[in-house]
Order: sequence, then C-alpha cells, then structure tokens
Amino acid sequence: MKKHGRVVIVANRTPAAKSAGGLASGLLDALRRERSLWFGWNGELREDDGNCVQLFSCDRLTVAAIPLSPEAHNRYYNGFANGVLWPAFHHRLDLMRFSDDDYTGYLEVNRHMAAQLRPLLQDDDLIWVHDYHLLPFAGMCRRQGIRQRMGFFLHIPFPVPSVAQAIPRIDELLDEMCAYDLLGFQTEDDRKAFVNLCRERRPQIRVPNTGGYPIGVDPLALQAEAEAEPVVQLWPRDRSIRGIISVDRLDYTKGLPERFKAYALLLEQHPELHGTMQLVQIAPPSRTDVPAYVDLHHELTGLAGEILGKYGDLEWQPLVYVERQLDRPVLMPLYRQARVGLVTPLRDGMNLVAKEFVAAQDPADPGVLVLSRFAGAACQLDGALLVNPHDPGEMAQAMLQALSMPHAERVARYRRMWAVLCASDIEGWRVRYLKDLEALAATEETLAPATAG
Ligand code: ADP
Ligand code: G6P
Repeated sequence: MKKHGRVVIVANRTPAAKSAGGLASGLLDALRRERSLWFGWNGELREDDGNCVQLFSCDRLTVAAIPLSPEAHNRYYNGFANGVLWPAFHHRLDLMRFSDDDYTGYLEVNRHMAAQLRPLLQDDDLIWVHDYHLLPFAGMCRRQGIRQRMGFFLHIPFPVPSVAQAIPRIDELLDEMCAYDLLGFQTEDDRKAFVNLCRERRPQIRVPNTGGYPIGVDPLALQAEAEAEPVVQLWPRDRSIRGIISVDRLDYTKGLPERFKAYALLLEQHPELHGTMQLVQIAPPSRTDVPAYVDLHHELTGLAGEILGKYGDLEWQPLVYVERQLDRPVLMPLYRQARVGLVTPLRDGMNLVAKEFVAAQDPADPGVLVLSRFAGAACQLDGALLVNPHDPGEMAQAMLQALSMPHAERVARYRRMWAVLCASDIEGWRVRYLKDLEALAATEETLAPATAG
C-alpha cells in the first residue's frame, strides 16, 4: 500500500515554463494522475522579492513556481548548466566554457530553490528531483534541514570517467549528488559511468542506491493522437513523395549538420531518387543565449541553403527546414505520414522523438525508424536501423534501405518496437522509480558532507 503523501517534483522548468524537451513532456503526462506538487522556475526573469511563489493547479497536480533574477539565471542556466554540464555530459568538452562566477551562481540558485521549497513541504512528501540543473540540490536541502526522502533522475547521459574528470568542480558535485537517497539514470551504461567515477574520484564517500530507469512514452495516447485527421498534410496521400521526418530541438547534440550532409550524399549518389522523396526537419530554437546554439543555427541554415540550391527545382524541394515548435496534435499525425523517421543524435540520454515516431505509426503500413546507436533509445528499439551518425555513407545507405524496405519487414520491425514501448511506458517508469525510492530508508549516512554551499 502507498505510504507516502504527495510526490514533489523539482525541476528547472515547470509546466508554466515549458519548452520543447523530453523532461517536461514526459513528466507532465505521468504526474497529472497523482496528488503531486511540481516546484521550479516559472520562466520569468525578475528579482525575487522573497514572496514570489506562484501556485496553480493542473488536474491533481499543483504547480509552485518562482522567478529568477536575470543575473542568477544567466550564470546558473546559460553559464554552468548549459555552458559546462550539458556539453560535457554529452562528451563535447570542446564546447565547455567554465567560469567560477557561473559555478557560484549555479550553487546559489540551487540553494535558493531549496530554501523556497522548504516551507511548502509536508513530512510525508516524497521528493523527486530532475536533471543536470539540480545536481547539488539534495546537499543544499539537507543542510537546510529538509529530511524527506529525495531521489534524483538524470534525463541526459552521464559521461564516462575519462571525460567527466575534465569537468571543473566535479568532485564537489559528486559529493553533493551523493546526498540523494536514489540516483536514477536512463541506461545501465550511464549508471555504471557514475558509479565508476565515484569509485575513482571519491573512494571514501558512500554512494547512494543507483538504478537504470529508461524513460518511456504513453504509446496508446500517442497512437490515438496520430490517428486523428491531420492538421497538415505534408505529402500526397498516394505516397508519390516518400517523406522523411526529423524533429529535434536545435541542439548540437542532435547531429543535425551530420544528418544534412548524409542526406546531401544520398542526393548526390542517387539521382534517380530526385523528385521522389523529401526530408522535413522541424527544429525549434533552443538556448539561444548560449553561443554554440547560435553557431549551429547559422551552420544549418547554410547547409539547408546549399542542398536546396544544388538539388531543388520549381517542382520539387528536397528539404523543408522549419525552426518552429509545433503542438503535439499537429506533430503526431506528421510522424505517421512519414515513410522514415530520422533520429540521429551524436549522443542522447534517451530521445523521446524516436519513441514518439514509432508510437505514431500505422500498424498496417508503418514507417521505418533510422536511429543513432548513441541514443539511449538504441538499447531498447532493436527494430530500428541503427546507424553511426558520424558516418555519412552509412547513414545514406540506411536511408536508402528504409525508403525501399519491403512491407513485411517494416511490419515485423514495428511490432518489435511497439511491444517495447508498451512494456516500458511512462507510467511504468514513474511507478518503478517511486516504488524504489519509497522502499529505501533515508539514513543518516545520506546526509550531505559539508563541502560546497
Ligand atoms: P530533448 O529532451 O533533448 O529535447 P527528446 O527527444 O528526448 O530530446 O525530447 C524532445 C521532446 O520535445 C519530444 O517530446 C518532442 O516531441 C518535443 N519536440 C521536439 N521538437 C519539437 C517541435 N518542433 N515541436 C513540438 N515538440 C517538439
Ligand atoms: C532536455 C533536458 C531538459 C530540458 C529540455 C529542454 O530534455 O534534459 O532538462 O528541459 O531539454 O531544454 P531547455 O533548456 O529549454 O529547458
């Protein structure tokens, strides 16, 4: 029987400050059903006058959201979270930009959020903290006397020790993370990387319980949305143009330039395909105050222009490039119209787009998923054509194979993946994680050592 009271979610974004991203879309669906509180930033950049917690309700979920000052947000979110942790955790040390001020700002926002949450808590709450913005949150809470059981889930990959050791202050962050009662990761590889790093860097510290909890989707709900009459019909219903769809935040981890180059190679090698297919790339802008994201936008518009200039003509555009966020009821039927879903991140925690694409397919006539081996989803979706996103020739070949795959093989592959989606859905993820967190005794040893903060 359930012993805890509310589930308290803590995440950088609340549904009040939603953006295209796996965390918000995954969690919101899972949490509406449970008496719960979701605490985080409200999306506003202004001074917190100390009395700024805004409360509102969404089904059984209450949202409590606070503003952040522009300076604090800049250091915490643009500076350390997205200028150091995001690139490093995705193995892009070349894009890491560290400054002491940003790190201090990151700790300060974590401490501030813990202080703002404290008066909202009830004794039997179970606290579930999400993602790399909040690695030191548990340490901050413990030092402020918050004793409720507290788990953490990392939505992005955890870097292998040889890469992680290059992150400034990583030892301090590991100490802080070990103040959680349970640390959840997307894959077993991520979990092992964390444990190995702790063994190497912090042999004296007690590592909390850890587990792999691959996040899922709600396949039946997505299927129903995808079956609806399309708001936009992208390609002729007679399939005279075979559609290839890609949907990603405009992020350098998603392998977008590599994908465009592979598509250009396919166009170069196979003139007989001209006029018969089209790649639609939907890429909403993301983190536009971080320089690497601005560079990516310029690189991609350049590549898109080259492809269109070289291969497009009055009757046929080989590529449609849209930097927009779409509503889910628009997006799901688009996945279903495509013959191929091209999901080729260079590195990704899970990649929910891959799972959404499969869920949206017509079981009688499904499209084919081409998936990067370096997405967490590749550990589960064995019916996809797995590719190395760094190899344009291999990707072009996989696109060709996907475009011409016989019906029987498409159906067989789809069925394998559909079974995985159902066996590992978002509800199962939530229940499994919370059950494990609840089962743990919060012991004195989980209290944070007096390091940072
Ligand atoms: P990430 O969390 O790194 O952005 P995921 O693939 O795990 O990557 O999750 C992305 C989520 O954002 C998915 O639920 C996807 O549907 C949504 N999304 C991505 N791009 C768009 C878009 N252009 N319009 C609407 N939703 C989008
Ligand atoms: C990924 C991260 C999330 C983040 C999302 C959107 O899914 O794991 O924590 O919310 O991207 O990014 P943003 O920076 O807009 O919140």
